[in-house]
Amino acid sequence: MSNNKTILLADDDESLRRVIEYNLSNKGYRVLLANNGNEALNIFKSEDIDIVITDIQMEKVDGLELLEEIKRLKSNALVIMITAHGSIETAVKAMKLGAYDYITKPFDRDELQIIIEKAQNLQSLMSENIRLRQELADRFSLGNIIGASSKMKRIYDTVARVAKSDSTVLLQGESGTGKELIARAIHFNSSRAKKPFITVNCSAIPENLMESELFGHVKGAFTGADKDKAGKFEAADRGTIFLDEIGDIRKDLQVKLLRVLQEKSIDKVGATQDINVDVRIIAATNILLETAIEEGKFREDLFYRISVIPILLPPLRERKDDITLLVQHFMTKHGDKECKIVPEVLDILNHYDWPGNVRELENIIERAIVLKKEDNVISPEDIPDHIKRKQSSSQMSLEIPDEGLKLEEVEKALIINALNKAGQNQTRAAELLNISRQTLIYRMQKYDIK
Ligand SMILES: Nc1ncnc2c1ncn2[C@@H]1O[C@H](COP(=O)(O)OP(=O)(O)OP(=O)(O)O)[C@@H](O)[C@H]1O
Ligand SMILES: [Mg+2]
Repeated sequence: MSNNKTILLADDDESLRRVIEYNLSNKGYRVLLANNGNEALNIFKSEDIDIVITDIQMEKVDGLELLEEIKRLKSNALVIMITAHGSIETAVKAMKLGAYDYITKPFDRDELQIIIEKAQNLQSLMSENIRLRQELADRFSLGNIIGASSKMKRIYDTVARVAKSDSTVLLQGESGTGKELIARAIHFNSSRAKKPFITVNCSAIPENLMESELFGHVKGAFTGADKDKAGKFEAADRGTIFLDEIGDIRKDLQVKLLRVLQEKSIDKVGATQDINVDVRIIAATNILLETAIEEGKFREDLFYRISVIPILLPPLRERKDDITLLVQHFMTKHGDKECKIVPEVLDILNHYDWPGNVRELENIIERAIVLKKEDNVISPEDIPDHIKRKQSSSQMSLEIPDEGLKLEEVEKALIINALNKAGQNQTRAAELLNISRQTLIYRMQKYDIK
């Protein structure tokens, strides 16, 4: 990441100011200094500031007041608070007021550097998100579909192209991956957008009613059919029909569906003549149709007819880089804009496997917003235990060879590994291993790691 960012540092301790300025300018940041909140505010108003680092206790305008003013100015700058040891309450108050994070005195160079890098990451994600949404809104409005991962970008491209055609689309993906959302996006970005979008949930309609639901019936076709009824296909004429859970559809109806696709006409129950319809079909399933075909439950010819354009929606665990964006999206959707999230919570969410995919993530965020202990802040205690527990167990799959192994050697290898991953940064390596920096240094000496 390029470092041409401007940091405003407000602290009344001159030597601290000098040290931080020295370290940060060495890293390529442009650093502006203020020795109280008032001075900081003046600089803030006249310069383009990316990150503010401010002490809390200062003369005249203090750090919290400075923070409030900055928030009032609706800038995108992120504010990092410097707090005194043991003043957790003030730190929490600052988070509530909209601080990005806090750092407790005394801190070292690496700690500050990590917080700044995280803030920069978030900032670039936010601006990437704004840019992406703008771009999408320009091309086709997919504003409510979130995701900037390469997998999602490929899907946006396909959706944009598919929307221009009348081809049948088959959406496949686990539960909660957004199949219905994508189906709607295709319809509302097609030339059929002003015509109906009709959803049929093939697994929810009783089998014996399915045929008349889909194709309609004429008066007297069966007992109880006391008047003509239009089916879903007729209702969707010149629009789109969304056949959800298509894998659950009865086999004799599969034949009739195939006919609709081939001949573009429907055979109403009890009618003597077919009716022509102009309907675009989008189907979705969360079971593997290939398996259903092998088991003889799904017709192969129908499968080929509906999967003209197959779209496979990735499970959330395969696009974890989208979690932060999704969380932001759901916080705005379900909460108020003031609500903040402790960075640690994002770590927890990133380590979970999400079997229920985006729907499960949305539920967790909505639940946390409702049940949160602190006003305006979501912290780890607002996240259910099973999500926190999954963290370590699910990622670890160490095989012990038959001849056994030396625990100390494994530990040594892990430490070297963590140091390499952290670019030899000890604070970060210690974070990766969930131990303190002191513990890391002690073990490095023990195993003679340089
Ligand atoms: N990429 C996304 N961006 C924003 N919200 C999403 C995204 N994907 C899914 N969602 C949300 O997650 C929830 C589930 O999505 P949807 O109903 O489309 O999933 P589905 O694949 O149809 O699941 P199922 O197979 O269980 O019916 C919805 O509330 C939807 O708005
Ligand atoms: Mg669905």
